[in-house]
Amino acid sequence: MPRTGRRDPTIVTHAGRAPRENKGFVNPPVYHASTVLFPSMAAMRRCEADPFNTQENGYNYGRLGTPTSEALEDAVNTLEQGYGTISVSSGLAAISTALLAVLEAGDHLLVTDSAYFPTRKFCDGPLRRFGVETTYYPPEIGAGIAEMIRPNTRAIFLEAPGSMTFEMQDVPAIAQVAAARDILTLIDNTWATPLFFKPLTHGVDISLHAATKYIVGHADAMLGTMSCRTAETWRKVKMTAVQLGQCAGPDDIYLGIRGLRSMSARLRQHQEAGLTVARWLQGRPEVDRVLHPALPEDPGHALWQRDFSGACGLFAMVLKPVPDIAVDAFIDNLALFGLGASWGGYESLILPGYPNRFRTATRFAGPGPLIRLHIGLEDPADLMADLDAGFGHMARAIADAAA
Ligand SMILES: Cc1ncc(COP(=O)(O)O)c(C=O)c1O
Repeated sequence: MPRTGRRDPTIVTHAGRAPRENKGFVNPPVYHASTVLFPSMAAMRRCEADPFNTQENGYNYGRLGTPTSEALEDAVNTLEQGYGTISVSSGLAAISTALLAVLEAGDHLLVTDSAYFPTRKFCDGPLRRFGVETTYYPPEIGAGIAEMIRPNTRAIFLEAPGSMTFEMQDVPAIAQVAAARDILTLIDNTWATPLFFKPLTHGVDISLHAATKYIVGHADAMLGTMSCRTAETWRKVKMTAVQLGQCAGPDDIYLGIRGLRSMSARLRQHQEAGLTVARWLQGRPEVDRVLHPALPEDPGHALWQRDFSGACGLFAMVLKPVPDIAVDAFIDNLALFGLGASWGGYESLILPGYPNRFRTATRFAGPGPLIRLHIGLEDPADLMADLDAGFGHMARAIADAAA
């Protein structure tokens, strides 16, 4: 992939589209495709010998890639500064496909204890059944990861910051330790988006996105991407995706391409509004602390400042100890925050988190309940008014319980 030298807002606007090749239409066409017809036996043989080189050999079959999937992959890859990107049907599919591509029976895998819960379930389920052992490490371990490496450690999985507890990781330090031992590194880069952190430029081998979140940006499609630093890794991951039958539907890919065009403008707003609400929450008497690496008080702030160029709208607050009925009264009475598991769309969301239910390497220190917020594109003043009213309901529920 050529390095364009252009800045990210320009890349998201122009990458992955070629109006002159599409009769002048600004957006790429959506190819709904399974069968592709070969012009001749010779062309079919050429394509089958090297089906991934679509530029020279043409397309082979819908599942292996289309001009539509390549348009999204090209754009994400330009942002990630990788060798190549592969799109799949969801963020979790990107995580599982990439892990299956780099691991085999008998291998050992290191995964951050702060990883997205379904990532753990994949490691502790299918990967274990197929002979891969996973050990979880403290997210803040940095270069200390060296002490956890075994002779059969083949890959290290990172997520920075953790998408429920927001610990930052020293990505370059871990990547350096891994590279010196021929161990591959993979990162779930969904929080930063391809705009605010470029893991491949810090030595990480595979950068993964739940494109479902900010790339799609409108809570209306499932999509995942895997960006690889080298040709060798890209080929391995592409081959595994094809062998697993992984491919995203063309309309969802198109929604990803369309979402990408406004991503840098949306992210600026998510960042600003998120920080406004986060700072306001820091001053609330109900809140013990706010977990947001872009806040100077956050333990991960120095790493965020060193490696990242921005923040999205997802963070968490830890409340002072309150009973469950108080949390329920708070959340159930919010008018603008929806109670839902995803994030990255235009709308605000809220979700309680229970990290200690599944952590094995570390304990998450309370003292009260953890609540994750996604700050959408609403006016932050309205969001703060909504949260303020919710805190009022919380206080009343506590008073009623005591009466
Ligand atoms: C950090 C993170 N990674 C991956 C995923 C999985 O993405 P998807 O829902 O598209 O499978 C999610 C979804 O919530 C997530 O939050």
